[in-house]
Amino acid sequence: MKPVEIIKEPINNEMRLFEEKFRESMSSPVPLLERITHYIVRRKGKQMRPMFVFLSAKALSGTVSERSYRAASLIELLHTATLVHDDVVDDSNMRRGFFSINALWKNKIAVLVGDYLLSKGLLLSVDNEDFDLLKIVSTAVREMSEGELLQIEKARKLDITEDVYFDIIRQKTATLIAACTAAGARSVGADNEMVHRFHRFGELIGIAFQIKDDLFDYTNAKIGKPTGIDIKEQKMTLPLIYTLNNCDKKSKKWLINSVKKHNTDKARVKEVIEFVKKSGGIEYTTKRMIEYQKEALKLLEGIPDSPSRTSLITLVNYVIERKK
Ligand code: IPE
Ligand code: IPE
Ligand code: MG
Ligand code: MG
Repeated sequence: MKPVEIIKEPINNEMRLFEEKFRESMSSPVPLLERITHYIVRRKGKQMRPMFVFLSAKALSGTVSERSYRAASLIELLHTATLVHDDVVDDSNMRRGFFSINALWKNKIAVLVGDYLLSKGLLLSVDNEDFDLLKIVSTAVREMSEGELLQIEKARKLDITEDVYFDIIRQKTATLIAACTAAGARSVGADNEMVHRFHRFGELIGIAFQIKDDLFDYTNAKIGKPTGIDIKEQKMTLPLIYTLNNCDKKSKKWLINSVKKHNTDKARVKEVIEFVKKSGGIEYTTKRMIEYQKEALKLLEGIPDSPSRTSLITLVNYVIERKK
């Protein structure tokens, strides 16, 4: 069995029902929206966020609730909205192994579709008075926007430190994974202390998750979206930040100049990537990622053993071992 199938074992029924509900949650009387949301549902992603919601709920209470389903749909809707917008922001034409929405329907429509998905998510919570879940998730969405803007600001100045990098990835990615594990816990009535613990658990996994995503960019792996584009986008991630802080002055100047002025020169970008690899940037980044994975797993100690808890651990490991 594939790792994902093993992970899903305790929540197979929940994931099946979720897919139905998720599809329904997007429906619209507008034909163009119907066409686009149909396209989105067919090209589904890894669905790691709903898995985190259900496994957290089940590891804590042995079951999931109607609220768990709505939390999962809400988060997957918002996640999808941010990806549709992100591909506009990053000018990327590929997502989930196929054309992005902006590539097929242009930016205008992609922006509006993102807004539509966001509003459908918010309404799903409001209509059911899931205000506590809505608060967890809205806070995450606010932080994601802040994180994306911080990234753009820092990318322009090229003065990013490790601390700022971790701030950015915590905000733009980890906060939504934290919302999954926290909302999952909350949806089955966990107390505040446990909800906090699950929030921190998700945050640590989310940081490891984005580090893994940034590592992919330094490879040629077929991950369903472009690789090698971060430097082109002047996005400085941990492998490069580490290299900048640990090389001689001359190399540093050359690196900065490359990112600043030669970021669209493919051969030059390739040279930068090679330099980062030679300088131990990948090893260092991998080491930091594993630290976060370990810290996350520690927070599951003390949770009673169950198939869902075991799957949650496997899912955490999958985050850093995955091939896409
Ligand atoms: C992509 O998330 C966006 C990041 C935070 C890096 P996923 O890798 O979970 O995307 P899908 O849903 O599987 O496509
Ligand atoms: C993903 O960011 C989008 C958000 C976290 C909001 P990236 O731009 O780093 O991710 P990919 O590589 O396009 O999925
Ligand atoms: Mg982006
Ligand atoms: Mg992107």
